[in-house]
Amino acid sequence: MEENKTVFVTGGTRGIGKEVAMKFANYGYSIIINYVSEKTDVESLTQELKKSGAKDVLLMQADVTKQEQIEKLVKQSIETFGTIDVLVNNAGITKDNLLMRMSEEEFDRVIEVNLKGTYLVTKLVSKYMMKQRKGSIINLSSVVGVSGNAGQCNYAASKAGIIGFTKSIAKELASRQIRANAVAPGFIETDMTAVLPENVKEQIHTQIPLKRMGTAKEVADLIYFLGSDQSSYITGQVIQVDGGMLM
Ligand SMILES: NC(=O)c1ccc[n+]([C@@H]2O[C@H](COP(=O)([O-])OP(=O)(O)OC[C@H]3O[C@@H](n4cnc5c(N)ncnc54)[C@H](OP(=O)(O)O)[C@@H]3O)[C@@H](O)[C@H]2O)c1
Repeated sequence: MEENKTVFVTGGTRGIGKEVAMKFANYGYSIIINYVSEKTDVESLTQELKKSGAKDVLLMQADVTKQEQIEKLVKQSIETFGTIDVLVNNAGITKDNLLMRMSEEEFDRVIEVNLKGTYLVTKLVSKYMMKQRKGSIINLSSVVGVSGNAGQCNYAASKAGIIGFTKSIAKELASRQIRANAVAPGFIETDMTAVLPENVKEQIHTQIPLKRMGTAKEVADLIYFLGSDQSSYITGQVIQVDGGMLM
């Protein structure tokens, strides 16, 4: 149990982020989560996290692209918990299209949420981690950030950018004992991939040596390891969770 530790999971209300929050809750962490959707059932998610073992929970509507909203959340988190030990930059979106059809809005918004959002949150949280002289930052990249993917030039660029960002901050922050790693999932069963047509999913399975999509839990297990002291000598790495899809 990690009774006095706190994790901040951006976009932790569903999918991979929720599973990550649940995993840290199992180990007694206090949990901070932000989200954008008005439909979020804050009360039931708070109860679910507490039942899973979370010491305390702070859930707040805050868009990762809006600096003043994140500043408010981080300030309130520090006032409530005193520290943020682990940051998981998970919030992300897709707006897929072929290059020739991709609008400037689709390109900009995906870069803004996935890449700039990661920069904004990390900058605000690492200020406190530097004072603590300890911390672990885990950024959600994707295998397509390494390999590229037709129809996802905006998303792949944002996820490749996250890899460069992660390696740069790993070098900058190492002297303060802050580690930074990227996790690159393959195809994981969440709302993000639920929209794919069945024939596309079947085609994807043929490209995965383990012949199935991954689960959010399988990604959360790796993220928990990277957030914990069990990975104390690992920084600046990009670790794939992809059933062997990209070797
Ligand atoms: N699923 C996959 O196969 C896969 C593969 C590789 C990488 N990833 C990456 O893993 C991460 C999680 O993916 P997922 O599949 O779990 O996604 P998801 O089910 O679509 O959930 C996305 C989460 O991000 C939040 N979010 C979106 N825009 C936000 C914003 N501007 N500010 C704050 N929160 C925001 C959403 O909040 P609301 O509920 O409020 O909208 C939601 O909690 C993403 O970065 C994704 O790119 C996923």
